Amino acid sequence: MSHALVIGGTGMLSNVSLWLVSQGYHVSVIGRNLQRMESLLGRSTDKHAITPVFVDYSDDNQLKEELKSTIEKNGPCELVVAWVHSYAESAIETISQEVSIQNGEWRLFHVLGSNKDINEIKRKINIPESCKYRQIQLGFILENDHSRWLTNEEISQGVIDSIQNERLIHTVGTIEPWEKRP
Ligand SMILES: NC(=O)c1ccc[n+]([C@@H]2O[C@H](COP(=O)([O-])OP(=O)(O)OC[C@H]3O[C@@H](n4cnc5c(N)ncnc54)[C@H](OP(=O)(O)O)[C@@H]3O)[C@@H](O)[C@H]2O)c1
Repeated sequence: MSHALVIGGTGMLSNVSLWLVSQGYHVSVIGRNLQRMESLLGRSTDKHAITPVFVDYSDDNQLKEELKSTIEKNGPCELVVAWVHSYAESAIETISQEVSIQNGEWRLFHVLGSNKDINEIKRKINIPESCKYRQIQLGFILENDHSRWLTNEEISQGVIDSIQNERLIHTVGTIEPWEKRP
């Protein structure tokens, strides 16, 4: 069974975690809150296809240990979807390093907020050769004269589209014109 990892997979990316299960992946999901994790497991068609990984991703050492352990148990990660708050600066690199220790190519879908400079982020991150790095930028929706932020369902669907279509860079909604954001 292929192994996927979703960081922040109990929140707005819940539908991504569940979709990956439906696609036959074993999915490791990182979060901290038991209730959110139980709610995700309760929605899954197969509870056993999800490994909850309870860790604060801002704690590099703990994150490394938990990643090692889930990779040992569930096999090399072929696909990683990461929604990581910017205060945990080194988490993406820690994840990349740990996942790359395994053999073979893997894909990283990095989900980023509307106000992030995605080119600068790509320049700064040290991406290992074995990693195919993809970016998904969250935008907003312009409807007639109104604008609104994306719903969790739209965010997850945008991430699923990126995975299905192998997009290098994908904007969910729009970030232009920026002055029209909600
Ligand atoms: N358009 C945009 O640019 C944009 C950007 C960002 C967010 N948003 C909106 O804002 C809402 C709130 O954002 P949010 O980030 O709170 O989304 P969220 O996806 O609902 O929650 C964050 C996810 O990351 C996990 N997480 C957070 N900090 C963690 C840590 N230190 N260690 C491990 N796991 C951690 C959370 O699990 P635990 O709670 O269990 O730790 C949860 O799974 C979203 O629902 C979205 O609609 C919009």
